[in-house]
Amino acid sequence: MLKRFRRLRRNEVMRDLVRETQVSLNDLICPLFIEEGISAPHPISSLPGIERLPESALAAEVEALWNLGVRYVMPFGISHHKDETGSDTWNDEGLLARMVRTIKQACPQMMVIPDICFCEYTSHGHCGVLEENHVCNDATVENLVKQSVTAARAGADMLAPSAMMDGQIRAMREGLDAAGFENVAILAHSAKFASSFYGPFRVAVDSELDGDRKGYQLDYANGRQALADAMLDEEEGADILMVKPALAYLDVLARLRERTLLPLACYQVGGEYASIKFAAQAGALDERAVVFETLTACKRAGADMIVSYYTKQVAEWLAE
Ligand code: PBG
Ligand code: ZN
Repeated sequence: MLKRFRRLRRNEVMRDLVRETQVSLNDLICPLFIEEGISAPHPISSLPGIERLPESALAAEVEALWNLGVRYVMPFGISHHKDETGSDTWNDEGLLARMVRTIKQACPQMMVIPDICFCEYTSHGHCGVLEENHVCNDATVENLVKQSVTAARAGADMLAPSAMMDGQIRAMREGLDAAGFENVAILAHSAKFASSFYGPFRVAVDSELDGDRKGYQLDYANGRQALADAMLDEEEGADILMVKPALAYLDVLARLRERTLLPLACYQVGGEYASIKFAAQAGALDERAVVFETLTACKRAGADMIVSYYTKQVAEWLAE
């Protein structure tokens, strides 16, 4: 007897019944770029449709997102107070603390998950303290703890450390607990690869980086090492593990899904957004169809949530 798989694909009603994976606003985290010292939104040439917002526009943007059904945001600051260590990140009146407070004030239920790193706040653009020309791990971890407690004090619900320093999750967890923030969760950038897909993001944040981050981010050739790094983050106390970028690393995500019981995230990075956006603008791709296809692929591979620059657009599409 012929096996007829097409029976379950005959029409949309049937296909919806057997669909294994859904994408919804329960799964999408919206990155936000906030630049201090500017008075009007600044379009980002590498990410058409995405803007750097002045601090004065942040509250209204967060309210607009909430009204569209977006409930998770990841703010990135573009600092005008850069120094050797990125000390603005642990100043209670610094940009990171202000962004978090502004969002929570405008929309107390919006879950705020700030990126925890130094690269937007250091004069050299690296993700930590430099010693000669490498990033010093343990000194950076000490500063990450200070930054984490500052973000928690400002009202952050969850922290997303992205520096790829060894021991950062354990140190942050201990520091948060000691300061009374045992309920602040950690979404760890656990398997973060040194990727050229970050190019558009570095334009977006006006990165000072001259060189690369291969001394601390994962080599894109290494799947096993990524799993080891991620599993260690679980041991150190991470609540959620993330793989970044997304589409080129779905094998890592799927393998990690088989090894941990924690929720998993992936980050559809700037270069992934730009690849779709510019191809769509050239008329080569159906943007909406490709966006849903890629987000669904992330979920199918094992992601419970996705950080995506398409979050607001998806919310608008779903509202149509
Ligand atoms: C650095 C950081 C990066 C991204 C967010 N925070 C990567 C990098 O510059 O190495 C990338 C996000 C994106 O590409 O969209 N801590
Ligand atoms: Zn960084």
